[in-house]
Amino acid sequence: MAKATASHRLAAAWAKGTMPIGDVEPPPRSARPLRPELRPPRDMPKRRNFGSPAGRTALLHALAHIELNAIDLAWDLVARFTKIGLPREFFDDWVGVASEEAHHFLLLLARLAELGARYGDLPAHDGLWEAAAATADDLLARLAVVPLVLEARGLDVTPEMAARLERAGDAQSAAILHIIHEQEIGHVAIGRRWFDRLCRAQDLVPAEVFRDRVRRFFKGALKPPFNQTARAAAGFPSHYYEPLAGVDEAGEV
Ligand SMILES: [Fe+2]
Ligand SMILES: [Fe+2]
Repeated sequence: MAKATASHRLAAAWAKGTMPIGDVEPPPRSARPLRPELRPPRDMPKRRNFGSPAGRTALLHALAHIELNAIDLAWDLVARFTKIGLPREFFDDWVGVASEEAHHFLLLLARLAELGARYGDLPAHDGLWEAAAATADDLLARLAVVPLVLEARGLDVTPEMAARLERAGDAQSAAILHIIHEQEIGHVAIGRRWFDRLCRAQDLVPAEVFRDRVRRFFKGALKPPFNQTARAAAGFPSHYYEPLAGVDEAGEV
C-alpha cells in the first residue's frame, strides 16, 4: 500500500514537469513485502471455483499480485532505460501507467478487505518479474514482452473473469475488473505506440521485430483465443501476434 501511494505521489510530482529524468541505475529487483511467499508458477494451486468465497478471494489475491508486479514493471521501465535519450513523452506515458497500476492494486486491496482477506495471505508466483529481468538490457524486448504479451494477455482473459464473477453474484468485484480492463487497453496502446516508434526510428519493421523478440525472450507460445476486439481497440493488429499462437504444455489450445 505504501508503494501504491508513493506511486501516486511521484506521478503527481512528475506531472508538474520540472523533475529531471536522471540516470540512476534501478535495483535489479524492486522491494517487496515479506509476504506473499513467492513460488514457481508451476507450484501454484489452480484457481477454478469462482462460486465460493475462497475461490473469489484467491482470484482477487492473484490479480492484486499481478497489479503489484505491474506497478514495479512500469516504474522499472521508467527508470531502466534513461541513458538512451528517450523523449519526455515516453516517461509521461509510463509514469501514467504506473499510477493507474497503483490504482488497480488499491481497488483490489479494498475489495479483498471487504471479503476479509489481505494481500500476502496466499502464496503468489514470480513469473512476471522473471520476464522483466530477462529483458533488462533490451527496450524493444521489454516492450514486446511486458505490455504487448503480458498486458495484452490480460485483455484476453479479464472480460471472461468479470462475467464469471457476475454469474457468481459478485458484481462489486466484476466492476473493478471492468475498470482495470478499460485502462489496460490504454496500457497496451501505449506499449504498441512506443514499440512501433522505436522500431521505425531504426528502420525496422515492427511486426517482425515483435515476433523476433517474443520468440527470443518469452518462454512458450501465445495462448489463443485472443480478444481481437480489445486488442484492436489498443491499436494492436492481429498480424503481430497471430503467427505466434500455439498450444500450451497440456496440449490444449
Ligand atoms: Fe493494471
Ligand atoms: Fe497495465
